[in-house]
Amino acid sequence: MEDVKVILLGPPGVGKGTIAGMLEEQTGAAHMSTGDMLREEVKKGTVPGKEAEKYMNAGDLVPDEVVIDILRKRIKEEGKKCGFVLDGFPRTLGQARELKRIFDEEGVSPDRVLNLRAPEHVIVQRLGGRRQCSGCGRIYHVRNMPPAREGICDDCGGELFRRADDCDETIRVRLRTYERQTAPLVDFYREQGLLSDIKADTGPEETFNEVRKRLDL
Ligand code: AP5
Repeated sequence: MEDVKVILLGPPGVGKGTIAGMLEEQTGAAHMSTGDMLREEVKKGTVPGKEAEKYMNAGDLVPDEVVIDILRKRIKEEGKKCGFVLDGFPRTLGQARELKRIFDEEGVSPDRVLNLRAPEHVIVQRLGGRRQCSGCGRIYHVRNMPPAREGICDDCGGELFRRADDCDETIRVRLRTYERQTAPLVDFYREQGLLSDIKADTGPEETFNEVRKRLDL
């Protein structure tokens, strides 16, 4: 197994979680999704979960200090074991700077930042049809990547659900939030020579092949 250390950038719905899952399967790297971590906190009803929920439902970013605390623990626990794929973090310049500090403390550094790109109409279609497994978290799409049996996960038999923030109005807010607060990270990482653009408007296998080429996998 290859030891990869990757940050995935890109707008909501472009396919970061899907590609992270494929990378995890191929390399054994830990898939660290701050969206999944926050949803888990919301489900458990923890203090950070209660704080995060209102921002997530509105399509806004959760305050930096809440997300950084959650992620720091995961990187310390798992970051050095077998590599990592960061999905949805960092999302602000403040988070990117803090991540650099955490990496320095832990003596790790990312190999590559992959910037997944697709036109907005493709993204809106993907988010509108997304379904996720309530058991194992696997991601499906009703048309693009359907399960064998409608509403049931192929892997664990769990029930599929539609995320609360995948409604039309919140999708629009999330896309604007991305442009305003996260898109500046593309230049931040490009200037450090770490960024590769990935054409992500193709099917999942084709996109993953391009990712593999960029990472020499
Ligand atoms: P998060 O869960 O990270 O959501 P997101 O960034 O909006 O990204 P998504 O999960 O919506 O999309 P994705 O790019 O992973 O696409 P996916 O692979 O699922 O965050 C949710 C919220 O939590 C945020 O809005 C914010 O409030 C908060 N949050 C999280 N992190 C934060 C942070 N760092 N700071 C502050 N707040 C934070 O694919 C989408 C669909 O397309 C699926 O149905 C899939 O099957 C399909 N698909 C994927 N790839 C392809 C393909 N190549 N071809 C066809 N279909 C495809």
